Amino acid sequence: MNHTSSDAIEKDRDRFVERLLKSTAGAFDIFTIYLGDRLGFYRALSAHGPITSEELASHTGTYERYVREWLEQQTVAGILKVEDEAAAARSRRYRLPAGHREVLVDRDSLNYLAPLAQMVAGAVRPMHQVLKAYRSGKGVPYPYYGAEFREGQAAMNRTMFLRQLGTEWLPSIPDVHRRLMADPPARVADIGCGGGWSGIGMAQAYPKVQVDGYDLDEASVELARGNVADAGLEERVRIHHRDAADPSLRGRYDLVTAFECVHDMADPVGALRTMLSLARDGGSVMVMDERVGDRFTARGNEVEWMMYGWSVLHCLPVGKADGPSVETGTVMRPETLKQYAAEAGFCDTEILPIDNFFFRFYRLKVLCR
Ligand SMILES: C[S@@+](CC[C@H](N)C(=O)[O-])C[C@H]1O[C@@H](n2cnc3c(N)ncnc32)[C@H](O)[C@@H]1O
Repeated sequence: MNHTSSDAIEKDRDRFVERLLKSTAGAFDIFTIYLGDRLGFYRALSAHGPITSEELASHTGTYERYVREWLEQQTVAGILKVEDEAAAARSRRYRLPAGHREVLVDRDSLNYLAPLAQMVAGAVRPMHQVLKAYRSGKGVPYPYYGAEFREGQAAMNRTMFLRQLGTEWLPSIPDVHRRLMADPPARVADIGCGGGWSGIGMAQAYPKVQVDGYDLDEASVELARGNVADAGLEERVRIHHRDAADPSLRGRYDLVTAFECVHDMADPVGALRTMLSLARDGGSVMVMDERVGDRFTARGNEVEWMMYGWSVLHCLPVGKADGPSVETGTVMRPETLKQYAAEAGFCDTEILPIDNFFFRFYRLKVLCR
């Protein structure tokens, strides 16, 4: 090995060391944000700040010494600001800067990211089962990822569904929009509905539509029913505990949707076949899934660093847990979905011109003409 190449190796090594140290700080950001979100620290700081560790502990029913450590850590991490750093530890006052408040507290903002920390905490929850699965080739059931993943996932997509689905995305498909506005009231089937926010968003934007949400996960069905009840929409949004790939799932719908769930399914072709049959009489089918690149490249596109992360820890193991699986993973490329849709009997798959950083929208053609 010559001198230049060993120099290059050392530089590469040093860059990698630096990167891993930064990644460790990033991991601590995520898990300490998880604590701050779950324990209500950010909400209390937003409502009462600047405050001391004792005041924050008293507002949140927590233990002062832990709270003080967390406040100091958050400040050093650049998430919180301290008003008077030279003051005695228990007298220092901390605050949440306005921009960070929107990201960590404002659940109606499209920039709200606190649930991402919850999802990451959920994704690592069954780490031992994931290790075992990598050796055995078996799957890890969705419930193993717990309330953290289920609720984090629902909260992460909630704002988009409430603020964009019925007011931007669906109105950009004129024939679907017209049908959802028209009489007789349109019927929508929402496959893999999770926490139910997509159905709630559609029902709020289109006051006549009736939505049936279907999900395989019992706890998600309970979560969705609670969210629907809180939104006062029980008359128009019904949630069912069903496997979308079950061929006995029947009905006639004007619109059939599947938001960020086809890649999670053990049998996506079976589910798409059901979706086709639900839309058979003049309905439309729309799928939203991750905006990954058209093909594998060493650099990946701008969202693949994250999508591969979910895939390795969560989506691929989950997609292998429910019976024989085609083993898709989060990185479901457009060609893969097109192939699944063709196998399910759809005539064609079109990519819709809906602009979103994380998601791509597909319309699956039911009628061939
Ligand atoms: C990533 S979550 C997305 C949930 C929701 N659509 C959203 O965007 O927040 C995937 C959901 O698909 C559901 N799912 C997976 N396979 C399914 C199947 N075969 N039938 C019905 N639901 C399924 C899971 O239980 C989970 O709730």
